Amino acid sequence: MYDTLIKNIGQLILPKKGPLKGEAMKQLHVREQAALAWKNGKVAWIGDTKTASQIEAKEVIDAHGRLVTPGLVDPHTHLIFGGSREEELALKQAGVPYLEILEKGGGILSTVKATKKATEEELLKKGRFFLERIASYGVTTLEAKSGYGLDKETELKQLNVVKHLNEEGALDIIPTFLGPHAIPPEYKSDPESFLSEMIALLEEISRKDLAAFTDIFCETGVFTIEQSRRFMKASQELGFRTKIHADEIDSLGGTELAAEMGAISADHLVAASDQGIKDLASSETVAVLLPGTTFYLGKDTYAPARKMIDSGAAVALATDFNPGSCVTENLQMIMSLAALKMKMTPEEIWNAVTVNASCAIGKEETAGQLEIGSLADLVLWDVPNYKYIPYHFGTNHVNTVWKRGEKVWERGESYVFSIPQPERQS
Ligand code: NIG
Ligand code: FE
Repeated sequence: MYDTLIKNIGQLILPKKGPLKGEAMKQLHVREQAALAWKNGKVAWIGDTKTASQIEAKEVIDAHGRLVTPGLVDPHTHLIFGGSREEELALKQAGVPYLEILEKGGGILSTVKATKKATEEELLKKGRFFLERIASYGVTTLEAKSGYGLDKETELKQLNVVKHLNEEGALDIIPTFLGPHAIPPEYKSDPESFLSEMIALLEEISRKDLAAFTDIFCETGVFTIEQSRRFMKASQELGFRTKIHADEIDSLGGTELAAEMGAISADHLVAASDQGIKDLASSETVAVLLPGTTFYLGKDTYAPARKMIDSGAAVALATDFNPGSCVTENLQMIMSLAALKMKMTPEEIWNAVTVNASCAIGKEETAGQLEIGSLADLVLWDVPNYKYIPYHFGTNHVNTVWKRGEKVWERGESYVFSIPQPERQS
């Protein structure tokens, strides 16, 4: 006896194990007219709708031809922060560049002030609120960074909040320590000392098991390549796998550094060089692309996803959800931007928000896939097929989200509308 059976699934997406690199990203394993059942939070049976009548389950759900996929994985968010930055919108409209706002003490530094002020309880409540919305968009696993503290107390406060939210269990949240996210004004003339302070924190974070990864913002006016290498080495010596915000605005060579250091992921990569792309392709580092950030910063040049995939790199997609450069929890919107602005195919996009995203946060064994024995993290979508989601943009197509077999979000309306079926091309 299974706990739940979903039958009449029009398309069931069963991604292959990742990381899927280059050509392999073009293949998406889709099973039509399928059914799936789970027990004790794990996928226990996958078959055809025809044979589903022999399956006994306590609850039977008729998908009426709709799409079912693994729960989405968002491998790059800045989930925990105080305040908000809507006042910066006018500066953006006036053409003030992102790095200039930061240089003047705004941007990340204004969120740092607000995060220092916020109590752990306030950050928890706010995090819970965002998480519910993230789940509503079909995400069942995500990464969350610190980086709005830039001091011991506030960085640990952020990481404790992530730990607490993860323990509450609605979604799996993988924590990343991003202490070197900006240089506090009082260290402006001595960034090396600030970096040393952040390095000194690593031991405690490791001992308390507060982060799986470390991350650094390698950018003009923030941290240099040499400083990033120093931080990554120190992290690795303590057993952390590393991530890097690389080549987001200027082409500094952070992409090459990520490959050189064997980083688990290199993120942003808008200005990655040809050499960087080559290095990525021959490395195990996953390129985490964030087209929502390019869109929100009002830029025209997106990360060279096509070149990366065509060169053989593994690409994942993420929201970069944060209060400044990408204020959205909606990974479906990111899927549309990936299609429209980076020319990724629907198959590549689905692999990028499932298996490859899970590889970017070391969760390839448990997230982003549906196999017998894998977690029953899945989404029933109110759409007829997987191509429909990047196509119909800016809205939420989720009907129901399950995490470990438990319903974590469901659309209020209970009616099943008739889904437009595309005309079949013969
Ligand atoms: O990934 N680029 C650096 N950090 C974040 C932005 C954080 C912020 O603006 O608050 C990013 O875009
Ligand atoms: Fe980021």
